Amino acid sequence: MSELVLWNLMRGALTTRALALAVDLGLPDALADGPKRIDDDVAYRVLRALASDGVFEEVEPRVFRNNDASELLRASGWDDFARLFGGIWLQAIAELNATGGASFPRVFGAGFWDWLAEHPEERAAFDRSMATGRERRVERLAGVDWRGDELVVDVGGGNGTFLRLLLDRHTGLRGIVFDLPETVPDASTFDNRLEFVAGSFFESVPGGDVFVLGSILHDWNDEHATKILHTVRASASDDARLILLEDVIDAGNEPDGAKWLDLLMLTLVDGRERGEAEWRDLLEAGGWRIEHIESGVIEARCL
Ligand SMILES: C[S@@+](CC[C@H](N)C(=O)[O-])C[C@H]1O[C@@H](n2cnc3c(N)ncnc32)[C@H](O)[C@@H]1O
Repeated sequence: MSELVLWNLMRGALTTRALALAVDLGLPDALADGPKRIDDDVAYRVLRALASDGVFEEVEPRVFRNNDASELLRASGWDDFARLFGGIWLQAIAELNATGGASFPRVFGAGFWDWLAEHPEERAAFDRSMATGRERRVERLAGVDWRGDELVVDVGGGNGTFLRLLLDRHTGLRGIVFDLPETVPDASTFDNRLEFVAGSFFESVPGGDVFVLGSILHDWNDEHATKILHTVRASASDDARLILLEDVIDAGNEPDGAKWLDLLMLTLVDGRERGEAEWRDLLEAGGWRIEHIESGVIEARCL
């Protein structure tokens, strides 16, 4: 049993790469119309391995069909996610070591965000991949009270699809998606209630009533995260609200994807996932007081 635990973890890089290869080989699309015999040797072996882990299904020898998980890989950002994970991220992961700091800049010669700015295709793929699971993230806001007519600023809001969903649910809200100029906004999401503003959250952010930061602070070490919180505070009126969509890590051995995401953040951007005490310290240092904290959503007001 212990040997199996180790084996299943050690071969993780192969799983990551096999998912990227499956997408590169166009296998999810090739199976879109139903079960198909796969003669190509590598494609067959990739499918067989992935099917043994719940992605694709072998219905008879060498004949495969999509299942719910492989259907997701056909589009909607999960294909981009698989390519990033099994491509540039995997290369950076291979160079992670104990000296600390991100390995991505060592491998690619530039910080992750600067590198994406120079690689528009990967930037667009990143924006699409970040939009995966946006319904789940909007659900996390279900418990948040809205006055109903607020101006919501999605700081580092990516391609805008998350804020679009929120505005569709609350028809009185208006929104601003704020992100770097090289971000690739999803044109279909913008209208007279939602605009895109380009800039850096180390300089200034647009003013608003509610500031949402979804998976932003986990990208940064404490020093940089504090600076971002200060920039947001500088644009906020005293009654403004801050909503972080972030994980809160508990101590102990429970499985938690955030404990692995933490290592990805270390690899790419020298970021980190945080526990409740770390969030409280960070927010206070940045000029904010936590009013509610649970894994997924942290609500704060100005100090
Ligand atoms: C992990 S993504 C999160 C995107 C989105 N909030 C979400 O939850 O899917 C981090 C975002 O921060 C943006 N970002 C990075 N550096 C930035 C900066 N200096 N100013 C503004 N946005 C920045 C990136 O472009 C990216 O869209």
